Amino acid sequence: MKILGIETSCDETAAAVVEDGTKILSNEIASQIEIHARYGGIVPEVASRQHILAIIPILEQAMAKAKVSWHDLDGIAVTMGPGLAGSLLVGVSVAKALALAQQLPLIGVNHLEAHIYANWLSGDQPLFPLICLIVSGGHSDLVLMRNHLDYVLLGRTRDDAAGEAFDKAARILGLGYPGGPAIEKAAREGIASIKLPRAWLKGTNDFSFSGLKTALLRLAEGDKVSTVADAAASFQEAVIDVLVTKTVAIAKEHRVKQILLAGGVAANKPLRRRLRESSDIPVLVPEPILCTDNAAMVAAGGYFRFQAGKTSGLDLDVVPGLKLA
Ligand code: KG4
Ligand code: ZN
Repeated sequence: MKILGIETSCDETAAAVVEDGTKILSNEIASQIEIHARYGGIVPEVASRQHILAIIPILEQAMAKAKVSWHDLDGIAVTMGPGLAGSLLVGVSVAKALALAQQLPLIGVNHLEAHIYANWLSGDQPLFPLICLIVSGGHSDLVLMRNHLDYVLLGRTRDDAAGEAFDKAARILGLGYPGGPAIEKAAREGIASIKLPRAWLKGTNDFSFSGLKTALLRLAEGDKVSTVADAAASFQEAVIDVLVTKTVAIAKEHRVKQILLAGGVAANKPLRRRLRESSDIPVLVPEPILCTDNAAMVAAGGYFRFQAGKTSGLDLDVVPGLKLA
């Protein structure tokens, strides 16, 4: 079964064709990073306009690379939220028009669900029950899955998401946008020698990164940052420490079979390494290109929704604040 996936929730215009929710036939991404980097962050109206420009060429590219025509497809999956309303509208409108014109089922997919389902695209098939740590620009969520599409939210961020914290820290240290890859790169040259706070929020599974960000800002303002590389390494270490410790603890508590990592921050190599080293429970992480926003993960999530009979009507609307559970 072949599903076309469409992703336009933030600043990547992406289209992909995936077979049986697991095999990538194509995965095309038009990134807007260079454009938004000029402003130091995402400008929503600019993002929507870029999606309008890129969506048809990227769709044609995805279909051509997969060597499929419309009658080879079994459904069209599209991110319906959470994300920027104007950006989501472009993908959803195009998906609806295609579903109507080609008489194909339409499947609205939650962007966070799509991030989780990126883990079905790397060869190994995840085993339930599992804990997934979703760390993206907008979320730091700990999710228990006992079965497909069954999500129990066990913990979340109380303020900044992990990716947001990386982006803000990079801005403080003058490392540019997007912050995650910039911090990771700078940290390679540094030592995590600066003591920075960790918010453990004992007794809960929640996260908080705003205190860490403020501590870094105070250091930078007080000119106490020995080197940018050391500051980046210390910041990254503090984030990883909390993410890994809390994820491993909750995975043990729930006696899960596997731990999954998902979302843009999951591309961070030290985080991937530390989670693997710290856990007796097997850890699955998508390839870095499948961690950041892409449409293959949307097609994968869409496939499992389709299998469960959860298709959408042509009155599908975008839900910018859509929750996973
Ligand atoms: O999942 P994603 O591509 O988009 C959202 O759904 O938000 O995540 C984007 C976030 C950004 O905050 C970016 O700085 C972060 O993921 N990120 C990283 C890395 N690559 C992307 N954070 C840490 N290390 C990375 N290598
Ligand atoms: Zn994302």
